[in-house]
Amino acid sequence: MKTKDKILILLAIVLFISACSKQEQPGKIKLNEKWKFITGDNPEFAKKNFDDKNWEELSVNKTWNKQGYPKYYGFAWYRTKFYLPSSLKKNAELRDSLILKLGKIDDFDQVFLNGVLIGENLKNVNRGTKPTDDFKNLDYSFWDKQRRYSLPVNDTLLKWDGENILAVRVYDWGVAGGIYSGKLEITMPQIQDYLKFEISKGDFSESGNKFVKSFSIRNTSAAYKIKGEIEVDLRNNLSDEDSDLLEKEIVLPPQTSENFIVKFDKPDYSETLEYEFEFENESETKLTEGVPYILTPPEKETPQINGALVYGQNTNKPFLYKIAATGKRPLTYRAENLPNGLKLDKQAGIISGKVAKAGKYNVKLIVENSLGKDEKTLEIVIGEKLALTPPMGWNSWNCWGLSVSQKKIADAAKAFVEKGLINHGWTYINIDDGWEIKGDSKKPKRTKDGIILTNEKFPDMKKLGEQIHAYGFKFGIYSSPGPLTCGGFTASYGHEFQDAQTFADWGIDYLKYDLCSYRKLMKDKKSPDELIPPYKKMHEALIKTNRDIVYSICEYGYGEVWKWGEKVGGNLWRTTGDIWDAWDKMYEIGFGQAGLEKYAGPGHWNDPDMLVVGWVGWGPNLHRTNLSPDEQYTHVSLWALLSAPLLLGNDLTKLDDFTINLITNDEVIAIDQDKLGKQASRIYQKDSVEVWAKELHDGNRAVGIFNISLKNKKFALEFNKIGVNGKVTIRDVWKQQDIGKFENKFETPLPAHGVRLIKIFKENKK
Ligand code: GAL
Repeated sequence: MKTKDKILILLAIVLFISACSKQEQPGKIKLNEKWKFITGDNPEFAKKNFDDKNWEELSVNKTWNKQGYPKYYGFAWYRTKFYLPSSLKKNAELRDSLILKLGKIDDFDQVFLNGVLIGENLKNVNRGTKPTDDFKNLDYSFWDKQRRYSLPVNDTLLKWDGENILAVRVYDWGVAGGIYSGKLEITMPQIQDYLKFEISKGDFSESGNKFVKSFSIRNTSAAYKIKGEIEVDLRNNLSDEDSDLLEKEIVLPPQTSENFIVKFDKPDYSETLEYEFEFENESETKLTEGVPYILTPPEKETPQINGALVYGQNTNKPFLYKIAATGKRPLTYRAENLPNGLKLDKQAGIISGKVAKAGKYNVKLIVENSLGKDEKTLEIVIGEKLALTPPMGWNSWNCWGLSVSQKKIADAAKAFVEKGLINHGWTYINIDDGWEIKGDSKKPKRTKDGIILTNEKFPDMKKLGEQIHAYGFKFGIYSSPGPLTCGGFTASYGHEFQDAQTFADWGIDYLKYDLCSYRKLMKDKKSPDELIPPYKKMHEALIKTNRDIVYSICEYGYGEVWKWGEKVGGNLWRTTGDIWDAWDKMYEIGFGQAGLEKYAGPGHWNDPDMLVVGWVGWGPNLHRTNLSPDEQYTHVSLWALLSAPLLLGNDLTKLDDFTINLITNDEVIAIDQDKLGKQASRIYQKDSVEVWAKELHDGNRAVGIFNISLKNKKFALEFNKIGVNGKVTIRDVWKQQDIGKFENKFETPLPAHGVRLIKIFKENKK
């Protein structure tokens, strides 16, 4: 071969390899995984030439709390260096700006490049902007938002082919802090980066029986025009067929936007809107949005008694049971064979008093209105256990976080009544962390007699308790066995008996007892030997009071709490860490309960944490749950099958039709509240389908068929695989309708991440 040919072949190989590697590594610079770190605050730390060599190194992959600063909050600084090669610019498709992706930062951030402030709290700032501390007064934080700042490539701040210094000033107001999501990098934009779909997920306006969805697309680039085609399809997740709602060629000049509207029939089955933009260069941006659909039938006007039909209380302890019933108002209530010591308020439907004699009492409840009546037997069990069915109610944490206040709790109780949740068995109104006086681990802040103090947001706990009880609800509170709660407030360490009595004096019916700072007092936080004593102690304190207080153990499942939780008096215990409104989290926690069923039963429940439906947010800044409608059906169906405590965590003053229907389906709730108290088992798991089944007290079975994949599916449940023989009647639980009789198998479509919740009758219904 001639030298010239050899050179040509070599060149071709080099070109080929470089083309491949260019595809594999789109232009980006990964920032260091460990940055220099210091707590405290000093404007000098922003400076380019500041000497940080004595600072320690911390990973930007997890909060500082997990790296040696478990309780630190306030200011801290991070610094790192990076080299900026001009090849990044040369290889880029668009060359106007540079993007800094800094991951998630808890709670607030100010970013300095080579000594100059370039962005703060999600926004780029104009050059010359002086950093202030104004954000400290913000009512909300950006703890779960990805930080992304940009600056022009020709910004003189940038040192191309040289070293650059990034300094980030972080302010955290509690719980956890720092730069924590990893994946920090510097990139050049592609045309797709400039197109923003502005969809406002979950927002649909109604026009008759149509949904109207407005959205826009925006070109955020100051320099480039965007050309392409927009398409919106509506996918039927049962038939898997698409229909086109919109198709249009688009030219968007720099910094312009265009609005669109699509209109379609309100569905009563699962549908997904699929938004797609195809750019001139054939790349695409896609987005999907689940359409809310209601399965629960409208409430009947005739009376119907709902909620748990077994109720436990101890002898001589205040008794409170609200008869939950739907139907046209006014309703009148009757109760026959009430044990001595109890009386019924006939208008309010509230049974109260004290029973001296232990025993089982079958009480006939009768609820009437002008259109008819309903009768059911309530089994009252005195002197055995509390929480004979999983507690159902609301807890402030998943929406208000530490911004909870007495008013917000009172509003939640009011909303439970106004929105009708009280008629479906929702009972507990629980305050989570944030009611106590801010703590000091060395010197507990209490009265001189050691009584725990509330903070200024809770001026009158006793009055709040009275208001809650007047509706017929139960009142819950939160504390920790350590000196401080997770939010840094005063907790019960060393004052267990006193606190239990204070809680009882306030009218408390439920205590969530959260490990938090007690971990600091332990050698091995997962050792049952060390976990049992503090939880046992509080139980002893609770039973000494003059009230029945349901005891909720929260220690994230450490030391296999399900094996000893009941022995230390726990009525429920968290089996995992905290939940949040993402499919992966809900999936991991909910479906991870497999195998724990043998530890649950009346009076002692596994607790996979609260429901993340509706408007949630862990602070005053709330958002609609990130779970799609199908994911929410999965969440509620699974929790009901698991006999899980049902604790809503959403803003009850903001309830849309979808959410109300999701949490007021009496047949779904009845599965959770079934008096046999058997938690479902996973009986089938293959090809992304899971089947969970729960035995019910009437001998029938509730079965959830879950599609945990992102593709719509069709599935045949073969009866021989789940121990069902012959011909059986099957009922659709969400729709509250018998579907028919089936032999050998039951076939059903399953939307992506969706569920079919059925009841299989043991007897063949006529
Ligand atoms: C966590 C707990 C949450 C919430 C929070 C309050 O430890 O798991 O549910 O109670 O503390 O600070």
